[in-house]
Amino acid sequence: MHSSNKTLVLQDNTNIYDVIEKIVENPNYDEPFFICDIDQLIWNVENWKRLMPRVEIFYAVKCNYNREVLETFAALDLGFDCATMDEISKIIALDVSPNKIVFSNPTKIIEHLEYAKQTGVRAMTFDNEEELYKIKKHYPEAELLLRIRCDDESAKYVLGKKFGVLPGSEALDLLRLAKQLELTIIGVHFHVGSGCSDYYAYYKALCAAKGVFDAAIELGFPVKLIDIGGGYPGETINPIDKIAETTNAGLLDNFPDLSVKIIAEPGKYCCNTPYKLVTQIHSKKIVIDENNKKIRMYYVDVNVYNSLFSVLFGEYYKFRPVCENKNAQLHPCIIWGSTSDVNDKITDKFDYLPDLNIGDWLIVEETGAYTVSISCEYNGLSMPKSCAVISKKNWSFLTTKAPKPIRKEKFTFSLNDFLKDRDQPAIFRKIYF
Ligand SMILES: Cc1ncc(COP(=O)(O)O)c(C=O)c1O
Repeated sequence: MHSSNKTLVLQDNTNIYDVIEKIVENPNYDEPFFICDIDQLIWNVENWKRLMPRVEIFYAVKCNYNREVLETFAALDLGFDCATMDEISKIIALDVSPNKIVFSNPTKIIEHLEYAKQTGVRAMTFDNEEELYKIKKHYPEAELLLRIRCDDESAKYVLGKKFGVLPGSEALDLLRLAKQLELTIIGVHFHVGSGCSDYYAYYKALCAAKGVFDAAIELGFPVKLIDIGGGYPGETINPIDKIAETTNAGLLDNFPDLSVKIIAEPGKYCCNTPYKLVTQIHSKKIVIDENNKKIRMYYVDVNVYNSLFSVLFGEYYKFRPVCENKNAQLHPCIIWGSTSDVNDKITDKFDYLPDLNIGDWLIVEETGAYTVSISCEYNGLSMPKSCAVISKKNWSFLTTKAPKPIRKEKFTFSLNDFLKDRDQPAIFRKIYF
């Protein structure tokens, strides 16, 4: 077969939007899909390294474990934060060294703890007495990070309600118990909360971590690691530059000794911006609201359960037509998801779109974080498939010059296959630019 039938080789001046148009223009294609821009994944990592050169990324696998993300980050030689046995196994399967994994879950299922032991993953977090006894019994050689609670109260998701010990006397008691049990503490961990908005949250948390770190030194532990968790924002309109500055200042003021290793577990920052969700209107209804205003209700072929779960927790996604007429008049509308559930409302009438019709395609930007990894098939509606695009330059980088080059044969993509092959689960596919 002629290769151009198998693989779409795009010209250098082609971008991800051209690919999206190409897919939706195909009269035989009618399913929603996620599309990942791998160039953006790589850029996010480079940007992080530029802003916080001392802080090594241990990517939070829970955020999105699509193959294109994990393979790209493994090629860039990032570390990984895993919360479960399954996440650990996904990373080990990529030939990542267990030293590049932190089992960052302060309350671990015993089977998962034993799996960490089997696979040689030693670094793990804890925040309570019972966990110490559990670790003593099942994995006494583990290297422990004490998770302290340092919340950014204004974060979208304040994780401190569930995890973390206060950095004062309670933390000290846990250190003493660990000593008594002859366990090894190697550092301190915190997570200020997902969707952090307090610029000084990391600075304050680092000051608190310093106190616990020093107490651990006094007790004779070989502490050498600070894990500053995740929480960094992942929206283009909300760049991390300012938080990076205060993080760097917190490190300089509290941990000037460069032999102390600093890692972070960003999830949303790494993989939210590279993804776009493309969906089609399958039904339309016009209603009159209480102010006698005409509201267009569009029903799209994705829903909060199979792709946009965070909507249920107040996350907002902006839709726009794939083929946009910038001069079109805008009208108030509601976008409903494809399930029978009334809570499956994706946007409300404060959203404005041009007059649209059944069959029109919409695009939702910045949908890589906590979407594909949280979805379920409520009403039997399967999650949208994922595909990915990469520029020739970065494809060559990932397969030859990256710290851990990826094997080309793993990443064969055919646009035609994607269009035909409906039943395959979300897999990595490559389109040459
Ligand atoms: C322990 C831990 N680390 C990292 C993350 C990633 O957080 P984010 O995606 O906000 O960066 C989470 C998110 O829940 C977490 O619980």
